[in-house]
Amino acid sequence: MDYNPPVKKILISEEQINKRVKELADKISQDYKGKTPILAGVLRGSVLFFSNLVKNLTVDCNLDFMCLTSYNGTSSSGKVRFILDLREDIKDRDVIIVEDIVDTGITAKYLFDLLKTRNPASIEMCTLLDKPSNRKIDIKPKYTGFEIENEFVIGYGLDYNELYRNLPYIGVFDETKK
Ligand code: IMP
Repeated sequence: MDYNPPVKKILISEEQINKRVKELADKISQDYKGKTPILAGVLRGSVLFFSNLVKNLTVDCNLDFMCLTSYNGTSSSGKVRFILDLREDIKDRDVIIVEDIVDTGITAKYLFDLLKTRNPASIEMCTLLDKPSNRKIDIKPKYTGFEIENEFVIGYGLDYNELYRNLPYIGVFDETKK
């Protein structure tokens, strides 16, 4: 029980996340009524959000994953590396990209540009967190859980150097305790 992750403060509690994720899932279920969207999770950051979101959906859906990296410590390298592709053919399908956070928007733009070349019927993004003040590319996800300030956060799937994804809340990272 002696676990002290480097968290300055809890920004969003597990209860707040659960409540908001349910609202997002309800909205998506309404918008995609009668359709079978592909939920395309971006590994690894989206994994907790992804599983919470999909278990609250009330439409048929397919689940698929991509794996990307762009971060080093607490700053974006600005370069996206594509490590694992979707397995599903997305042609004529409704795709919802599921992200942990949209920060500069570089990853989101990269994904939209890439997946659009495969001619999906539609493509949208659902992100747990959005840091609009740090945007370098003008992009607005259709579904956003929480807008946050430009602070580095960890937990609920988000990492600092591959650690702290396991925290059940979103916390502000404490650089002094890393
Ligand atoms: P973007 O390309 O700058 O929008 O960054 C997207 C990716 O950066 C996310 O999928 C995260 O993996 C990572 N990222 C951005 N901000 C944070 C943060 O505050 N904590 C942890 N990871 C972050």
